[in-house]
Amino acid sequence: MLLSNSIAVSQRVPLILRTSRRRNAVVLAQQNQPQQQLTVTSAFPSLTISDEALTSRGFNLHRTIDSLNLDHLNSVFVAVGFPRRDTDKIRVALEHTDALLWIEHQKTKRPVAFARATGDGVFNAIIWDVVVDPSYQGLGLGKAVMERLVNDLLAKGINNIALYSEPRVLGFYKPLGFVSDPDGIRGMVYSRKQKNKR
Ligand SMILES: CC(C)(COP(=O)(O)OP(=O)(O)OC[C@H]1O[C@@H](n2cnc3c(N)ncnc32)[C@H](O)[C@@H]1OP(=O)(O)O)[C@@H](O)C(=O)NCCC(=O)NCCS
Repeated sequence: MLLSNSIAVSQRVPLILRTSRRRNAVVLAQQNQPQQQLTVTSAFPSLTISDEALTSRGFNLHRTIDSLNLDHLNSVFVAVGFPRRDTDKIRVALEHTDALLWIEHQKTKRPVAFARATGDGVFNAIIWDVVVDPSYQGLGLGKAVMERLVNDLLAKGINNIALYSEPRVLGFYKPLGFVSDPDGIRGMVYSRKQKNKR
């Protein structure tokens, strides 16, 4: 979903991650710490595309905005049909984001896939701005960012992960474990219409 009030609320469907898909993955603590086993909950213990496979296909994965050109990111948003937003506001939004992932095309250094989540850092998160540049759609990059974002949130102990989906994208999110209206719970949104700028 786009963080904006310019898309009609009625076009969005709230989805929540069914945590029954989770598996337990065991990882070792870092080498400079006493050897200790940590149990991390992961929805996708085996990723569809590994980090190495992404790299060998010409893509770099990032989890910070250090080298992210926000004007280029804004262009990807616009290319998928989101309205162009103020880049400074995007920066503020990203600074208040709990987890994010973006994929850079190695040759052009431009972002081609992006997803982020906001939340309380402990219990709940909401995923926003899931986009793949139209020229790079259908390559598995959307799934690559979503699998990792969900894993990153679960690894922080955040088990309640929601998003709003446009109807045409429900078929993308459902195989990732997201369900509409779980147990009859209905999402409600207050969204103030943006005034037209002159
Ligand atoms: C939705 C979007 C992020 C998917 O990214 P993508 O990189 O093209 O998707 P992937 O190649 O990773 O596809 C993963 C799987 O989802 C399926 N899929 C992708 N888009 C789908 C859609 N709109 N409906 C149903 N299934 C879809 C693919 O066929 C693929 O299936 P497979 O695993 O069985 O092969 C991308 O199309 C996009 O940016 N769309 C415009 C922006 C948008 O609508 N964002 C979501 C806002 S709610």
